Amino acid sequence: MNASVEPALNYQNHYSWWDDLSTAVLVTDAQLRLIAINSAAEILLGLSRDRAVGGLLGQWLRVDRNLNQQFQYALTLEQPITLRGQKLHPRRAPAFLGDMVLSPLRENPTGARLLLELIAIDRQQRITQEDHLVQQQTITRAVTRGLAHEIKNPLGGLRGAAQLLASEVSDPALRDYTRIIIREADRLRALVDRMLGPSSLPKRERVNVHEVLEHVRELVSVQLPLGLRVTNDYDPSIPELVADRDMLVQAILNLVQNAVQALGDHGEIRLMTRVLRQYTISGHRHRLVARLRVRDNGPGIPDEIRERIFFPMVTGRAAGTGLGLPIAQSLVQLNNGLIECHSRPGCTSFDVLLPLESSP
Ligand SMILES: Nc1ncnc2c1ncn2[C@@H]1O[C@H](COP(=O)(O)OP(=O)(O)OP(=O)(O)O)[C@@H](O)[C@H]1O
Ligand SMILES: [Mg+2]
Repeated sequence: MNASVEPALNYQNHYSWWDDLSTAVLVTDAQLRLIAINSAAEILLGLSRDRAVGGLLGQWLRVDRNLNQQFQYALTLEQPITLRGQKLHPRRAPAFLGDMVLSPLRENPTGARLLLELIAIDRQQRITQEDHLVQQQTITRAVTRGLAHEIKNPLGGLRGAAQLLASEVSDPALRDYTRIIIREADRLRALVDRMLGPSSLPKRERVNVHEVLEHVRELVSVQLPLGLRVTNDYDPSIPELVADRDMLVQAILNLVQNAVQALGDHGEIRLMTRVLRQYTISGHRHRLVARLRVRDNGPGIPDEIRERIFFPMVTGRAAGTGLGLPIAQSLVQLNNGLIECHSRPGCTSFDVLLPLESSP
């Protein structure tokens, strides 16, 4: 079964539908010399179309004997071949686990003989897992908010009654009791307010992410132990994005405070920024995404809570309330973004991902 080559004729120089495909597609001649590639392939293999076209596929993707054999089968037998779960090694981009479909093309004047489709399944898995997590978090948030409201109402009554009682009793020992009731009611109220999360919709304003990060750095630097350094590694080319600045400050502050607490007296917190291309956040593929990373070289997140840290009341610290991360996640999600986490002993990263093209 031969695929038609017609659409391949004007692949190269025109922006066309095939640049909108999320699947990476490459077209080669019989010697595996690249004739055309789409945008998704440029990103997946870390190459630019202008430089890649005309060169051999092997210059950009490691083609071992086995893989080369499959290419030859597809070409000589003129049969499409699907290779599943291949570990693929681009020479200029991270390795990935992918499915590869090789479709031979009919002989034609362009010389195009093979169509390659690459689907990075590990990235697909990330997206599926992430969707599942976001759904779970949304449900948990709804339950928590419901519960918080239920607690808040009687709490107000309880506090008011204790105040009345305090004005009636003259015995100082009894007044101590009413003071305790009022203080604890206030503490509970503050906790419930945090559980309820952000109470207003995000403001839409132009935000410079580096200004946000530097502001957080200033906020924490006042109470930083001497052996703890906050360094940065910024990509200055990141444009401004549209988001609620105060919400971002609060979210990043929660992440940096966690890093400070995890490190104790010694260590490094690194604030990093990068631009990611064609990145999917909560089911939406974005052309450009800003990644704000808070990385520390502390002990890592304890195994027993690692999968649950974005849920409320999950904490690994004796004095923790377990609300910092769920609040940070809600704040970032309100701005169409997402926080992801990777952690192992010696390296913990929290990535705040924010679309760069969100409109005001
Ligand atoms: N950078 C980090 N390194 C190691 N563990 C972390 C890190 N960030 C978070 N954690 C773990 O995740 C837990 C949950 O964090 P979260 O911010 O939600 O709550 P908390 O810090 O315990 O309390 P709160 O922020 O409400 O005061 C922490 O208690 C800690 O065990
Ligand atoms: Mg915290």
